Amino acid sequence: MNKRQFLKSTLGFSLMPSLAHLLAQPATADDELYWAQIRKAYRIKPDYINLENGYYNILPEATLEKHIQHIRDVNYQGAYYMRTTQFPDRKAMSKLVADVVHCSPDDLIITRNTTESLDMIIGGYPWQAGDEAVFALQDYGAMQDMFEQVARRQGIVLKKVSLPLHPADDEEIVNLYANAITPKTKLLMVCHMVNVTGQILPIQKICDMAHAKGVEVMVDGAHAVAHIEFNLPDLHCDYYGASLHKWLAVPLGVGMLYVKPEHVQKIWPVFAENEKAAKGIERLNHLGTNPVHAHLAIQDAVEFYRQLGPARKEARLRYLQQYWTKQVRNLPGVILNTPEDPKRHGAIANVGVAKLKPAELAKRLLDEYKIYTVAIDGNGVRGCRITPNVFTSTAELDQLVRALKALA
Ligand SMILES: Cc1ncc(COP(=O)(O)O)c(C=O)c1O
Repeated sequence: MNKRQFLKSTLGFSLMPSLAHLLAQPATADDELYWAQIRKAYRIKPDYINLENGYYNILPEATLEKHIQHIRDVNYQGAYYMRTTQFPDRKAMSKLVADVVHCSPDDLIITRNTTESLDMIIGGYPWQAGDEAVFALQDYGAMQDMFEQVARRQGIVLKKVSLPLHPADDEEIVNLYANAITPKTKLLMVCHMVNVTGQILPIQKICDMAHAKGVEVMVDGAHAVAHIEFNLPDLHCDYYGASLHKWLAVPLGVGMLYVKPEHVQKIWPVFAENEKAAKGIERLNHLGTNPVHAHLAIQDAVEFYRQLGPARKEARLRYLQQYWTKQVRNLPGVILNTPEDPKRHGAIANVGVAKLKPAELAKRLLDEYKIYTVAIDGNGVRGCRITPNVFTSTAELDQLVRALKALA
């Protein structure tokens, strides 16, 4: 029995045949007829244009229905399920995620989100007073807060860099991090895709530079998994955390953590029970009782993602970003805070209007143009983050372009 048959028999998944057929049709990134069909796989609220898919991805209806079925199934079986089948099912789910990022299932666990994954490493790292950590001011606030807490509790020293919005080349970014490293540096945190701008960073080069100086690298992949294609081992990082409710469109509250095998034993787990029982990365994965039905929907989300095609999804997302940025990048009064080079961005871009504060821009986009975004104002980034999804139409982006032209 192969893996697919196994999952079908024990967990009962597979998309509706009509949807699977639709997803499998050949189509390019600019085939609006195809993408209009994909849009129909979702229930889209008509009151506004959702260009804030960076927070999390809503589920296609087929995945949502499967998720509801998992809730019913777990509820039907009760404690019996939780004491027995839960464990092999969860293992099967983490294997599916490991397949998506092309790493060994022995090196990956399912968590609640990126915050839990990365804060577990930051908090559980065997710090000595005076050790140093490096990260960027544009990194996600929750992880910066966790580093600040460890600094207060354990006396570590934090070195912060500020990322350029439009780097000349990879070396500019690698050198920025390299210059912050000292003989006391132990850990460097870096975003795979910066959440406020959508900029993709040269992770492998940063890791190779840091390793040459004896520094470990923890990557914040919240926005990268199932958005851009990559092989996790090729990044050469030591730790990688992501939220699966973002671009993999798993129900809310499911994330992943990868730890290189040689580091597993030295990290202090947040919840200690598994430390006694489990060997390998499982020692970091004691969750307590948790909504396992959300984990079970991983199989349905992965199925949808696979049918859509990772390469095609990435191409469409980048196409949508470029569709609107190309029309406004050189307009007077419009400021793009995301690099133009296609290898440095995916779906996300950040745009400002010179004469408006980001919060005013977000309000006017919503009030006057029915476009929902999020305002970003800090650390050199002033604008609204614009995040389309696979269901976003070019007509919706035309509305954004009209709005920006009028507001600028
Ligand atoms: C770069 C980055 N890291 C971490 C997070 C935190 O994700 P979560 O709230 O799912 O833990 C986010 C959320 O938007 C993010 O953009």
